[in-house]
Amino acid sequence: MLDLNGKVAFVTGAGSVGDDPDATVWGNGKATAVLLARQGAKVFGVDLRKEAADVTQAIIEKEGGICATAGVDMTNASNVESAVAECVSKFGGIDILVNNVGGSAPGSAVTMCEEVWDTQVAHNLKTAFLGSKYVIPIMEQKSKGSIINIASIAGLRMSADRAHIAYSTTKLGLFAFTKSTAITFAKQGIRCNTVVPGLMHTALVEHRLAKTIGANDLQGLIDRRNAQCPSGKMGNAWDVAHAVLFLASDEAGYVSGTEIIVDGALTAASSSV
Ligand SMILES: NC(=O)c1ccc[n+]([C@@H]2O[C@H](COP(=O)([O-])OP(=O)(O)OC[C@H]3O[C@@H](n4cnc5c(N)ncnc54)[C@H](O)[C@@H]3O)[C@@H](O)[C@H]2O)c1
Repeated sequence: MLDLNGKVAFVTGAGSVGDDPDATVWGNGKATAVLLARQGAKVFGVDLRKEAADVTQAIIEKEGGICATAGVDMTNASNVESAVAECVSKFGGIDILVNNVGGSAPGSAVTMCEEVWDTQVAHNLKTAFLGSKYVIPIMEQKSKGSIINIASIAGLRMSADRAHIAYSTTKLGLFAFTKSTAITFAKQGIRCNTVVPGLMHTALVEHRLAKTIGANDLQGLIDRRNAQCPSGKMGNAWDVAHAVLFLASDEAGYVSGTEIIVDGALTAASSSV
């Protein structure tokens, strides 16, 4: 079940903020890279900070898996094109693409400055576009492939108190990007789906959010995020990684153009009357 032996996975943002090799709280890309490798995939992990991807590589290799890394800015077309070529030359193809790079910035339609808007669109949408643009032709050669885009419930559930308009807009935009890609390449055997994480306890919470929205009170922030979840507990990067694993696997062979929401019923609770 969910055997990825013989497959190659290209995972973007395969490191995690905070590069402590002993960290136990990981980002979604790092957990995904490690889980796909555990299931037998050869992983090509790219990250803006190669040193972060190298931490992931060391974990995979220590467990007996296979991983290579590259320092890549996923918003830069020539960087992405070279990394895809390097992966193909090293591992012979690409079967799984995980477009995981993304992140939020605060601001409303009025308070967000134009530069932040442009950066957010590049960070959350262009990265998935470029990954797909260069990987799909490789998948077409084998008439098979699975693309998984990582969105966020921020595209489904918004707060007037804390707007991050570009993040919400781009993450919901990924739903349409996924559907359009799934339909266009279905006859070529390529599937495309979105994983939609909710409130997750990832490295981001520990290293960035505690400072930006948590007033340097990490435990207070964790408690507040836990309290918002129907189960009383945030999810974590492994929950995201397991949804990605299913969509990457042959068992999901007829699943395409859709979303898996990994939020412990948080959006369901938000929409109840
Ligand atoms: N953490 C959460 O609670 C949460 C919730 C919902 C959705 N998400 C989504 O999950 C994805 C991963 O988030 P995370 O918090 O686990 O990641 P993260 O913030 O830990 O980042 C993962 C890696 O991405 C790399 N990166 C950043 N910009 C890059 C670029 N331009 N090119 C290549 N690499 C780049 C970083 O160096 C980092 O190592 C994002 O798309 C995010 O929006 C996260």
